[in-house]
Amino acid sequence: MNDTDSRQVIGRKSFAAVAINCAAKAGEWIKTKVGGYASLNQKTSHHDLVTEVDKGSENLIRSLILTHFPDHAVLGEEGVEPGPAASAAALEEVKDAEYLWIIDPIDGTTNFVHGFPFFSVSIALAHRGEVILGVVYDPSKDELFIAEKGKGAYVHGRRTRVSGETGLRESLVATGFPADRDGALPLNMRQLEAVVPRVRNVRTAGSAALHLAYVAAGRLSAFWEIGLNSWDIAAGALLIQESGGVVTDLDGNPYHLGVRNIVASNGAVHDELLAVLRSAAE
Ligand code: IPD
Ligand code: CA
Ligand code: CA
Repeated sequence: MNDTDSRQVIGRKSFAAVAINCAAKAGEWIKTKVGGYASLNQKTSHHDLVTEVDKGSENLIRSLILTHFPDHAVLGEEGVEPGPAASAAALEEVKDAEYLWIIDPIDGTTNFVHGFPFFSVSIALAHRGEVILGVVYDPSKDELFIAEKGKGAYVHGRRTRVSGETGLRESLVATGFPADRDGALPLNMRQLEAVVPRVRNVRTAGSAALHLAYVAAGRLSAFWEIGLNSWDIAAGALLIQESGGVVTDLDGNPYHLGVRNIVASNGAVHDELLAVLRSAAE
């Protein structure tokens, strides 16, 4: 990306301004629909839900992005067939685009459906496969987390920093249960069994993107989950990297858009967590 691309150009909004506008507009609208959605459908199973609000949020974000940047590519959860194979194929098709927006229109749909106020809108922008902008917006708390590559991460204008714990014993760690219970649950349960006794405590609040934002803001020491998709992770991963943390796959390889099994932390507890998770995989 050259300087002119990254700077605000007269008559053209910056990438960050568009992402913030999209997340705020979608989030405000989603909040008005808590307890008031019209249709609830299952995707692959009763663990995997979608409402007309997920689709409406994605349409709103897509059309705003394309109004400003008509030549950019967009990958949104609701534009992809359910299931891991379709997600991987959809990402493969667009991952090398010059500019690719990656959208999770509601991360935490189960929470949204139940009125549990922990869900988010996640929007990332990748330039030739590298995430350069990430926004995670929590409409329930009106908290907007934003990171730009090389420029730091912020929540409401305050710089975010990962937490200072140096060992799992004093760590608060989060995880999630992916929709693919048949494939993922056995390993998920073994991981939980291995991690719970080692850490201060574990949280599973139901929005991967928001959990990642909380790691960036130092509210959680670490987060891991298996079987996620690019739209769950992309924005949150940049938030953590720009807050001084570390994001890898389960084998410790650096984060990239194709990573589905994610381990994200303040850096200091990363290797210890990886080792415990590895012991659960054996
Ligand atoms: C889900 C949430 C949840 C995680 C699942 C995701 P969705 O996303 O992030 O926390 O455990 O794996 O699929 O379906 O609400 O966008
Ligand atoms: Ca999601
Ligand atoms: Ca979603």
